[in-house]
Parts: sequence; structure tokens; C-alpha cells
Amino acid sequence: DSMRNMGGNMMGNGHMSHNEVVSLNDSTGENELKIPSMLERDNEEEVAYTVRAQIGKTEIFDGIETNTYGYNGTFLGPMLRLDKGDTVKIKAINELDENTTFHWHGLEVAADADGGPHDVIKPGEEKIIEFKVEQEAATLWFHPHPEGKTSEQVYNGLAGLIYIEDDNSKSLGLPTDYGKNDIPLIFQDKTFDDKKQLNYRAAMNDDGTIGDTLLINGTLNPKLTVNKEKVRLRLLNGSNARNFTFKLNTGNSFVQIATDGGFLNAPVTLNEITLTPSERAEIVVDFAELNTANDLALINEDGSILLPFDVSGQNGETEEIQKELNDFALTSEEKSLPVTKEIELFGMMEMVTINGKKFDPERIDFTQEQGVTEVWEIYNKKDMMGGMIHPFHIHGTQFKIISRDGEEPAENEQGWKDSIAVHPGERVKIAIQFNHKGVYMFHCHILEHEDNGMMGQIEVK
Ligand code: C2O
Ligand code: CU
Ligand code: CU
Repeated sequence: DSMRNMGGNMMGNGHMSHNEVVSLNDSTGENELKIPSMLERDNEEEVAYTVRAQIGKTEIFDGIETNTYGYNGTFLGPMLRLDKGDTVKIKAINELDENTTFHWHGLEVAADADGGPHDVIKPGEEKIIEFKVEQEAATLWFHPHPEGKTSEQVYNGLAGLIYIEDDNSKSLGLPTDYGKNDIPLIFQDKTFDDKKQLNYRAAMNDDGTIGDTLLINGTLNPKLTVNKEKVRLRLLNGSNARNFTFKLNTGNSFVQIATDGGFLNAPVTLNEITLTPSERAEIVVDFAELNTANDLALINEDGSILLPFDVSGQNGETEEIQKELNDFALTSEEKSLPVTKEIELFGMMEMVTINGKKFDPERIDFTQEQGVTEVWEIYNKKDMMGGMIHPFHIHGTQFKIISRDGEEPAENEQGWKDSIAVHPGERVKIAIQFNHKGVYMFHCHILEHEDNGMMGQIEVK
């Protein structure tokens, strides 16, 4: 029992439960949402970029400087916009005073470009990372991945978005005016100390660090001003451990058009959507249809106000969303393949394991042949306290969900995924293939679980 009371957030909590969820503040809406800048190319001849991990001070609270990390800035990072087919060269520079790596979450790249814990760049050093974009349009992200330090570095501010566009995404007539009707939303919860600093060591919980203060794109108390038109929101749960369930406070529905790794075949109408850490979804909210006399806001499951909307009097262009967005398919052959890899997620706090083991950089847990589809079964084994959701993520590929406890996945999960919420006691089957060789990580994306060893390695041969 003493172990269970170690986490800061669980202290003083009379009954035992996993990951006691502290509630979030309501956004007062006093600050217009910041939009990450779009990263510019180093030159016109090639698709070359420079990304620096750096230390800085950021004014999150008025008149107060908070010590933070950022990419090409002091907090979070720019948005990296790539086209399918691009050969990309990134000069990654580590200006921190500790080791880091540059991981491209969701990108189907060769293992030597993936930026896992083996690809350390030391302070003051740099590396050229090259890859070809071969996957379809999607909203991905990048963040550090050094062994045992991922959670702290992400918490301090290292995270940025990647947009991949392709012929399909450009021809669908979806909102694409960046920052106007195509809005990135990076949701993170933090705890600030009495000096308004991010004191990770003090806030840290081994079962996942949960904060009481919401930042969206690094903005405290954000609001978003929109025209009366369809607006595409690219949601990223960029928090260390908190799950979000997004809804409109009016109860109105919206449509989901994309999962982690691409468009759904057709828009799916929803009243709410849950994203666990590292998951993304693209949704479209039609502000021309909503009654703007109400105070509109995006809220969380518990009713806390995440993002108030200010709907301007201006009408925007509002094209209908097409009925066919993609040609994603789970084949009958994939459905009938036998399970060849079993992954058991178990434990809590520092005791988390995969198949009874903790991460060992020297150990390869599985091998798989390049280009061959296999079926993995991921099982979240309950513990005496019932267990908790583990968001399970695999590097270097996008996979398909075959079933959850034998049932077909919900319509809005019938698309490419690289992270999946696995509920206590649940068995999830996925069809997965790797297009490149090398060693890739798979892990729980509660970052403290990852750092505590809930991670394994697969070698693709
Ligand atoms: Cu978001 Cu191992 O990564
Ligand atoms: Cu990843
Ligand atoms: Cu976990």
C-alpha cells in the first residue's frame, strides 16, 4: 500500500485508485489561441529544415517568465508541413544541456530516422536526419524520446506538429486555411508551482503526471475566434497522462474526418470523442449551423471549459464535406490471420511491465519480417485495483484495428492508427506491417509509464 501512495497526486487520497484525476481549470477565454508558426525551409532547392531543441523563458502568465523548453522557440514547436513524396532533410540540433532525441510520432520511416532512445544527440551536437514521406495525408507530431527522460522533456515543452498533405487531402475541399479554419489544437495539462514554474520533479507522478492547468498550443485561458463556417480542428492529446473527452457545451454534434494516420472513409457524426495521450483526431465543427447566441465552447467530459469560441459575424465559405474521403480497408485476409504476437500490459506506478518485463535497450523482444502483415493481440491485464487505460503506441508504422474484445471497432476507429487506448481487461487485435527495417519501440504513451519501462523493441528484418 505504501507504494500506492507515493505519487504526488494520490497523496492524502483516502481510497486507492489509479491516477487520481485532478480537475482542470475552466478557460476564461481571455487570451486568443496561439497558432504555431509554419516552419520555413532552409533553402528553395530542397525540402530541408532546421529543428533546434532549446531552453528558454516563456510568458505563459502575464508578466511572469516560466522556464521552458521548445523547438525553434521557447515553448512547443513550429508546424512542419510535408507533402507525400517529399525527400526530407532535417538538421536536428540539441541546444539543451542534456541528451535528447528527435522522434517523429506516426511517421513511417526507417529506424535510423525514427529518433527512438538509441538515437541520442548530445548537448551541443547535431545530426542530419533524412527520410522520404511515403504515407498518406495525416496529422502527426514530433517529440523527444531519450531513455527515462521523455516525460520531463515533453512536459517542459518539447512537442511540435507535422502535417502531411497529398493529392487526396488537397482535392477534398476541406478547410485548409491554416490558423483560420484549419486549426491545430495541442492539449496539455500542467502544474505550475507558486513561482509559476514547471517543476516536473515536484509535479511528477509515476502513474502519469496530471496537471490542474490547461494549455492549448501553450496558451493559458485560450479562446478561438472563428467565422460562421466549417472549421477543421486537428486535435492532439499532447499531455503526459490525462485523457480528454471533447464535446460541445451545447450538445451539438460534429464530424470526425481523420484518425491518427489518415482520413476515415467517410465522416462520422459524433457528440463526443475521447483521445488518450498521443492520439489525434481531425474534426469539423460547422459554426454556420450552430446557434451562436449561446456561449459556445469545447468542453471536457467533466464539464470543464477547454476552449470558448468567439463566433464573428463574418460568413465564411462552407463547402459540404464529401461523403468519400479515403479508401481505407481491413481485408478479410487480415481479419482471418492468426495472432502471432501477444502483448500483455500490466502494473502501475514504477511496477509497469510488458509481458512481465521492463524495457532493456539491449534486448529485442520481437522480430517481424519487413512488409509482412501480422496480427498482434494487446491485452491490458487488470490488477487488484481494477487497472487503468494504457494508450499503446508503436513506432514506424500505422496499423489497423481488427477488434476490441472480439467486436468490430467503432466507426471512428476504422482508420489508420499508431496509438490505441486499451481498457482494463480488454483484448485488442491489430493488423500491422512495417515498411522499413530496423529496431522500433512499442510502449505505453503515458510518458511516465514509458520512462518506467513499459516499453519493448521489435526488430524488423
Ligand atoms: Cu510519441 Cu515512442 O512516441
Ligand atoms: Cu512514436
Ligand atoms: Cu500505461
